[in-house]
Amino acid sequence: MSVKTTNEIDIVKVAQSKIASVDFDNLAFGATFTDHMFVCDFREGKWHKPQIKPYEPFLLDPSAKVFHYGQAIFEGMKAYKDEAGDVWLFRPDQNLDRLNKSAVRMAMPEIPEDIFMSGLHQLIDLEREWVKFGLGNTLYIRPFMIAIGSGVVAAPSTQFRFMIILSPAKAYYSGEVKVLIAEHYSRAANGGIGAAKAAGNYSAQFYPTKLANEKGFQQVIWTDDATHTKLEEAGTMNVFFRINDTLLTAPTSERILDGVTRKSLIALAKREGIKVEERSVLVSELIEGMKDGSLKEIFGAGTAAVVNPIVGFSYQDTYYELPKMADSFALQLKDKLTKIQYKLAEDTFGWTV
Ligand code: COI
Repeated sequence: MSVKTTNEIDIVKVAQSKIASVDFDNLAFGATFTDHMFVCDFREGKWHKPQIKPYEPFLLDPSAKVFHYGQAIFEGMKAYKDEAGDVWLFRPDQNLDRLNKSAVRMAMPEIPEDIFMSGLHQLIDLEREWVKFGLGNTLYIRPFMIAIGSGVVAAPSTQFRFMIILSPAKAYYSGEVKVLIAEHYSRAANGGIGAAKAAGNYSAQFYPTKLANEKGFQQVIWTDDATHTKLEEAGTMNVFFRINDTLLTAPTSERILDGVTRKSLIALAKREGIKVEERSVLVSELIEGMKDGSLKEIFGAGTAAVVNPIVGFSYQDTYYELPKMADSFALQLKDKLTKIQYKLAEDTFGWTV
């Protein structure tokens, strides 16, 4: 191992990379991690010197608050390689902004921009061999923060660990995605933590999603907790509906995650001249749209999933199969978005870094 300090980050490198043992053509999403990780601790009211070190497990006290009270937040980002071999990030400022909003909501300290950005850039620079060229190849980036202070008193921790780990990845979903529209369970409520990328928002979905899986559905489309009539979010993604030639998606709120892919697709669709409405979409509009043929598409959008067409949905035990669209908005927007991310098209928005 070699140790050096650059830009206030202590860097300890592995003696031998494990990259040669990785089969990049057969990667299960989020299962393989690169050689190094970024770590920065918050103690005594301040962030301490960050480190980049070999990827490895670490010890925590069994009473650490993350285990008992779930004080944990995360982000999902990706790095892409262009033809020239340069590595690009997509709107990292948006992820930092959302991470810090999540931190405030979960009574955790905000991450200073220089720690987040220099950690991200130096870690990815060190691991650039892990980012493979070619559409569909990405390096999934998982920044996260956990409460590491010990003690089972139900109060916020005073000690936290911020980390970034990296995982070479291809598609999140393999195969067709069918969804179940939630009629009883909820993902979020007003005044709750739905807009935060908090770990508990995901674990709370596991049981209802397992029930949906058992019925042959990959995801649940969540509806509002009060009336279960408004369509909100789909598991790991924001969700879009195409009724005739209008693209609809729920507005961000206390219950809905402000997705980076979501807002990028809205901007791209508007630029392409597609009419976009950010408003609550009712379950009844989908059912009507299936009856009169106006519902053309449903798709999910997220960093991990990118743009994922949904082939059908179930509501009140009836399954509705969506039509196959030759001029699919999902596929057109996915193409425009990924071309920007891989630097195959001009980035007129200035999103790539
Ligand atoms: C992402 O799209 O990056 C997410 O954070 C969703 C995750 C649960 C895979």
